Amino acid sequence: MSLFWRIFVLDAVGLAVAAALLLGPVTVSTPVLPGEVLVVVAGLAALLAVDAVVLRVGLAPLGRLGRAMADADLLHPGARAVVSGPVETAELITTYNAMLDRLEAERAASAAGALSAQERERHRIARELHDEVGQTLTAVLLQLKRVADLAPKDLREELGQAQEATRAGLDEIRRIARRLRPGVLDELGLLSALRSLAAEFTTHGLTVRHDLRAGLPPLTEETELVLYRVAQEALTNTARHSGADRAELRLRPAADGVELLVRDNGTGLGAQTGEGAGIRGMRERALLVGAALTVSSRADGSGGGTDVRLRATAGTAPAAREAAAQASPGGLR
Ligand SMILES: Nc1ncnc2c1ncn2[C@@H]1O[C@H](COP(=O)(O)OP(=O)(O)OP(=O)(O)O)[C@@H](O)[C@H]1O
Ligand SMILES: [Mg+2]
Repeated sequence: MSLFWRIFVLDAVGLAVAAALLLGPVTVSTPVLPGEVLVVVAGLAALLAVDAVVLRVGLAPLGRLGRAMADADLLHPGARAVVSGPVETAELITTYNAMLDRLEAERAASAAGALSAQERERHRIARELHDEVGQTLTAVLLQLKRVADLAPKDLREELGQAQEATRAGLDEIRRIARRLRPGVLDELGLLSALRSLAAEFTTHGLTVRHDLRAGLPPLTEETELVLYRVAQEALTNTARHSGADRAELRLRPAADGVELLVRDNGTGLGAQTGEGAGIRGMRERALLVGAALTVSSRADGSGGGTDVRLRATAGTAPAAREAAAQASPGGLR
C-alpha cells in the first residue's frame, strides 16, 4: 500500500472511531471531568503513536536510499539500493537504480572513448618523436661523424662531445617513445614489455624484481594494454611516493584469468585515503575490461608497503569493450 493510503486510512479509522465514541457512549461534560480528560488524552496518544510507527516504517527505505546515494561511486559500480517500502518509495528506489545503470554505462563508454583517444595521441606523439626527431638526430650524428673525420685534431674532442650529447638525446627520445607507446607489447608480447618496464624502473635506489609466469591464459589486446598501463602507473607511484628500495612486479595465472601484483616495501599509503588521477585512471582502465583493482597498504609485519593488485579475466572483455569499440572504431589501441 502507498504511504498516502496508509496514513489516510489510519487517520480516517482513528477519527471515525473517535466520532462514533463521542456520538455513542462517551460524553464530554462542561467543565470536563478528570476521567473524560484521561480517555481523550489516551485516545490521542494511541493515534499519534500508531501514526509515528507507520511513518517511521514507511520512511525508513528513504533513509536507506539517501545513504546509498551518498555512498554511490561510479568507479565502484554494481552497488544498488534494496527496493522496499511503500509503493512510492519502491518506485523511487527502482528509478534511482535504473539511473545508476544508465550513468555507469555512459561513464564506461565515455571513459573508453577518452582512454582510446589518449592512447591514439600517445601513439602519434611516439611515432613523430621516433620518425621525425629521431631521424633528424640520427642524420646530425652521421654528419658530426663525417665532420669529425675531416676536422683538425684540436676540434675532434669537441666534436666527439657533440656526438655523445646527440647520442644521449637519441637514447632519451627512444626511451620516451617507448614509454608513450609500449611497442614491445605489439612486437614481443606482454611478458617482455613488463620485463623491460621492470628494468626501466630499476635505478639507483630501487630494484624491481619480476616474477612473470609463462603459460598465461589468452588475453585480449585491451586487457594486455590495461595490465601494462596499470603496472606502469603503479611502478611510477612506487618510484615517486613510496621511498621503497625494493619492488616486485608479478603476473600469474589466477582463477579464470590472471593476477598482476605490484608490491613495494615503502611507506604504504599512510593515513591519506585520497586517490589522485593516477589511481583513478587505473580504476577506469580496469573497469573497461571488467577487471578488479585493489590498492592497499600492507600490514603483515613485513615492513609495510603498498600492494596494487589487478585481477583480469581471460578471453573476451565484457560490454565495456563494445562501448569502447563504438566510441572509437580502433578500440583501445
Ligand atoms: N606505492 C605507494 N607508496 C606510497 N604512497 C603511495 C603509493 N602509491 C600512491 N601513493 C599515495 O597515493 C596518492 C595518490 O596516487 P595517484 O597515483 O592517484 O596520484 P599521484 O601519483 O599523486 O599523481 P598522478 O599519478 O596523477 O601524477 C599519492 O599522492 C601518494 O600519496
Ligand atoms: Mg601516480
